Formats: sequence, C-alpha cells, structure tokens
Amino acid sequence: MSRFPLYRPRRLRRTEALRRLVRETHVVAEQLVQPLFVVPGTKVENPVGSMPGVAQLSIDRAAEECRRLVDLGVSAVLLFGIPETKDARGSGAVAPDGIIPRALEAIRKAAPGLVLVTDVCLCEYTDHGHCGVLRGDEVENDPTLELLAAEALAHARAGADIVAPSDMMDGRVGAIRRALDGAGLSHVPILSYAAKFASGFYGPFREAAESTPAFGDRRGYQMDPANGDEALREVALDIEEGADMVMVKPALPYLDVIRRVKDRTGYPVAAYQVSGEYAMIKAAVANGWLDEARVVEETLTAIRRAGADVVITYFAKDVARGVYRR
Ligand code: PBG
Repeated sequence: MSRFPLYRPRRLRRTEALRRLVRETHVVAEQLVQPLFVVPGTKVENPVGSMPGVAQLSIDRAAEECRRLVDLGVSAVLLFGIPETKDARGSGAVAPDGIIPRALEAIRKAAPGLVLVTDVCLCEYTDHGHCGVLRGDEVENDPTLELLAAEALAHARAGADIVAPSDMMDGRVGAIRRALDGAGLSHVPILSYAAKFASGFYGPFREAAESTPAFGDRRGYQMDPANGDEALREVALDIEEGADMVMVKPALPYLDVIRRVKDRTGYPVAAYQVSGEYAMIKAAVANGWLDEARVVEETLTAIRRAGADVVITYFAKDVARGVYRR
C-alpha cells in the first residue's frame, strides 16, 4: 500500500460524486423488511406511544399499508398478530382462522408479490406474556415446541412466504421444519431469530405487541448480551436444524455478532433494528438533538456493512419513500 504523500485518501472524498463512485455499502428498499402489528377490528389505527410513526393496524388497514409498501419497492413485511383473547397456552397462535392467517389472506390479495414473513412466537398470545407454556414460573421447552410447530403450520397453510420463530426455545427450528415437511410445505423457508439477545431495547415493542411478561423477564431463554461465541453456537444449531436464513437481534449493539455470523456461515443474514433502537432515534430527533436523515442512513449502512443482507427496520417505509434522500 502506498504511503503519504503519494497516497492521500482525501482525494476520493472531495465531492459527493466521487464518494458515490467508491461507496462500498448501499441501503436499498428491496433488502428492508417493514414490521407491522395487526390487531382485531376494522379501520383501527392505534398509534404506539413509544414508537412515533408506528401504529397497530386492523387487517383492512394493514392490507392497504402493504399495497403502499409494495408500490414503494419494499420487498417484505414481518407480521405480528395481537389476538382477540389471550390464555395460558396462547391458543390464538395456532388457530387456523386466527389473526395472522386472516391477515395473510387479505394482504395477499391487496399486495401480491410482497414477501409475507410471520413472527412465530407465543408471547403475543399468552396471558402471562412469556414465549412458551409455563410450569410454575419456568417456561417449559419441549411442550412449547409442539405449539410453535402448529403455529408455523397455521401460518404456512394460510400463505406465509417465510416463517420466523422468535421464541428462543431449543430445538424449535427442527420441530417447525419437520411439521412443515410433513404437511407438504417443504418449500416454505425458515428465518430463525438465531441469536436473539435478552435486550432492554425491546421495551417499546412490548407496548406495540401487548406482550410485556406479567412476571420476571426473558433471560431464561433469550441470550446473555455478553456472549458472542454462544451466538455462533446458536446459529450453527439452527442451520443444522434447517434454518434457511439466520437473524441477529438487536442490530446496532451487536454488529460484531452480525459480522462473525456472516463470515462463519455464508448464509443469508438478517439483522433486526429493534423498537428501542427506533425509539431512541425518534426521541432524540424530536428534541432536535439528532438529524433523522443522517442517523437513519448511518445506522442502516453500518448494519449492512457489518454483514447483514436483510435489515428489518421500522424505518423501511420512509427509506423507500425517499424521506431521507440527500
Ligand atoms: C418476541 C419478539 C420480540 C421482538 C420481536 N419478536 C420481543 C421480545 O422478546 O419481547 C422485538 C422486536 C422489537 O423490539 O422491535 N416474539
């Protein structure tokens, strides 16, 4: 490598045209996924207080939103369902006519061509807000697997293009793969939330999904933020069990993990810029402390540069709309 004064890195930074020419990483709408919260009723649009710009939507409104998203060039949505009623076993999650199967049908009609990803988890459906069935205060792993497999099956039968388990039970990818294959749905891919950390950044989501645990926290099943090697083991397990894509979540505090997963596996990697990452930016912007366009572009670029192929972000629609274009 040549040295100063022969080599002057600033030469290629002088104008935006030059910078554009040699830019290594791009954020494009087709690799962004917009999360949506679907609630019962019609014509419902409930703003989520801690996530300015995000609202819970009834199926009709979600379908209209998906129409707009596909027209804007966003490739995919990630659907979270909030059921009419919750119970201890999260029965709403496995119902063939539950909120997500019904939403899939309506969205498919309104926005053909949009990739429909469904979150497979019980926490939105259980009255205690944990991601599985309980024995005492413990989430029981193996009995939960059957329910998750049944939920994934209900989603796939209703037309989900990708199912995305986010519960962090051991063995759930294998259980879901077997259930799908056994039902003639071997073509449906699994995006596993493989390295999902027990994060303080999920707070606003739990308001949006009405899934705050009634007691305790999720540290008994989600990962310890201190562990990078363990994240690689989690990812390897999920791939062995049949995951087609793997996710790291949250995104910005775990860029090192994204990079290691990408280098190690060569699999398509998704990263989730979660609700707290979104809320943090929105709050600072509302105070006039940060420039939204710059930090949205910068954070998404950093997540892509770290190795994420796909980014799940609440900013997807606004990026696609060109709100942040300079
Ligand atoms: C669990 C789930 C969570 C998120 C997605 N799926 C949160 C949790 O573990 O409570 C968080 C997403 C976000 O914060 O934006 N089903």
